[in-house]
Amino acid sequence: MTHAAVTGWGKCLPPAVLANADLAQILDTSDEWITTRTGIRERRISHVGLGELAHVAARRALAAAALDPAAVELIVFGTTTFEDQAPNQASLLQKQLGARHAASMDVNTACTSFLYAWSTANALIRTGVVRNALVVGGEVISRFMDWSNRNVAVLFGDGCAAIVLEADQSETGLLAEQLGCDVEARDALVIEGMGARYADFERALGVTNWIFDGQEIFKRAVAGMAQAGAAVLAKQGVAAADIGLVVPHQANLRIIEAVAKKLDAPMDRVMLTVQRYGNMSAATVPVALVEALEEGRVRPGSLLLMPAFGAGLTWCAHLARWGERVTALGHSDSELPPCSSSALDLVRELVKRREAARPATAAALANGCCA
Ligand code: ACO
Repeated sequence: MTHAAVTGWGKCLPPAVLANADLAQILDTSDEWITTRTGIRERRISHVGLGELAHVAARRALAAAALDPAAVELIVFGTTTFEDQAPNQASLLQKQLGARHAASMDVNTACTSFLYAWSTANALIRTGVVRNALVVGGEVISRFMDWSNRNVAVLFGDGCAAIVLEADQSETGLLAEQLGCDVEARDALVIEGMGARYADFERALGVTNWIFDGQEIFKRAVAGMAQAGAAVLAKQGVAAADIGLVVPHQANLRIIEAVAKKLDAPMDRVMLTVQRYGNMSAATVPVALVEALEEGRVRPGSLLLMPAFGAGLTWCAHLARWGERVTALGHSDSELPPCSSSALDLVRELVKRREAARPATAAALANGCCA
């Protein structure tokens, strides 16, 4: 039976670091509050668009797999912060790479988008539709952030990572998945201002308003991730003690600790990046996976458990068996352009643009654009 092995991996984190102390300069918050409630100490703010982050991550992943872009058959891009709705983000990446024989699609399930993208590519490889795929999880959330709202502005960061999947006859890659959506809590996280619903209204210019019930999300995230994790372990008859590494969605250290406890997984077998990058939505799991490989925490044949949740509230857990190779076949010298601004200056610029958008939308309303 055909499986879809992970043969390449690469990440791209923008260099500008926004520390909690920086946020305390623009919001009524503190390093102490953010660290104790979330575990987050710093996050990255991108000076480039999502396309540029993804291009570097994808080049690195393809080099690690020694796969020529022209041989790529499918690109599945997991993101909620795509630069254009049509054409999609995946096709931009296809163009940047010169992957002229690929099919390209986006998957948007908020923070679970990378794992849902992996499921999609896995299914298309296992059923013989394609022989390989590039799967990407990336976000530039900073451009959609309401930087005046301390409830959300302290939680998120930008980043991107990609993996390459290739058809393989050994039992590697995804072994089991459980996917779902706790739709009763659909309204617990809504980003007003993203989408056609707002096309004629005040928030048309990307001026967002985050409706966010953190405590409700917290409770449901822990329950959903733990239930999905236990379900995939049971499906495969795997005991918690057999998991080599848990690579969870990284939204809040306390959520991760609670899920690990429910799954009987000791914290020394849980990959953590949330302290350094915050919640990068679709990028958290692939970035954590790439860093686990870089740190030698993924061993040949390791079982990996990847539970996640996102707006929707989508939830899932994926169980994967790693193959024999845990080192890259090659390296790409692809890099981002240098960044000359501090992260705080990048944020201040975003705030300025947002303020400039307000009078423009007000004028549009006065001229009857929404009549
Ligand atoms: N700095 C200082 N104080 C703050 C901040 C801040 N950044 N944010 C909120 N507060 C205040 C609140 O106003 C509240 O004050 P009050 O008691 O006077 O009303 C107080 O701190 C306590 O707030 P709580 O909501 O009780 O704090 P809690 O311990 O629940 O932690 C948190 C909040 C971190 C948001 C937590 O609920 C959480 O992590 N939830 C999960 C959210 C998440 O990860 N969502 C990602 C969604 S995924 C996606 O798809 C995009």
